[in-house]
Amino acid sequence: MMRVIEKRLMIAALGACAFIQIGPVMAQAGQSDVTAAIQRGSATFAQHCSHCHGVEAVNKGHVGPDLLRSDRYCDRLPKGAEKDMCMADGEAFFVRSVQEGKIRVGIVHMPAWKEVLSMNEILDIRRYLENRKELIAASRAR
Ligand code: HEC
Repeated sequence: MMRVIEKRLMIAALGACAFIQIGPVMAQAGQSDVTAAIQRGSATFAQHCSHCHGVEAVNKGHVGPDLLRSDRYCDRLPKGAEKDMCMADGEAFFVRSVQEGKIRVGIVHMPAWKEVLSMNEILDIRRYLENRKELIAASRAR
């Protein structure tokens, strides 16, 4: 049984890699390390997060909140120092949420990932989610 689940996860992860798209700003940055981070983040997300937060982070009534809306307060700000600060704060919240999980009055809503994922792996997921958001925004603008 476990084997089957593992295989499915691997297929999901491979699928996510094969069809990965890179958003315009990220692509413009032209950094192959950013692209690599997004690809790694995509695979890690597919393996560990998508069943609660939605496949490719598209949240359709999943148990976890819509992670593409996490930075909506920052999205309203114009580009500049204030927005950068807001995004940095959002990133700190993201990392802490993932590392520590979400446990309220003893009930585990999300497990802690600090024993499973490294800081870099968590940041790769964040880059992946940012890229997903960009792609969706770009497709809406078309
Ligand atoms: C078992 C289901 C489950 C899994 C697996 C899961 N999450 Fe969650 N996650 C949740 C739930 C539920 C919440 C909301 C908890 C609360 O605050 O009430 C949450 C909250 C979060 C938050 C905080 C969002 C916010 O705006 O408050 C982040 C960030 C997050 N998850 C990221 C991740 C990442 C990244 C992964 C994969 C490594 C992951 N989650 C895996 C269920 C899950």
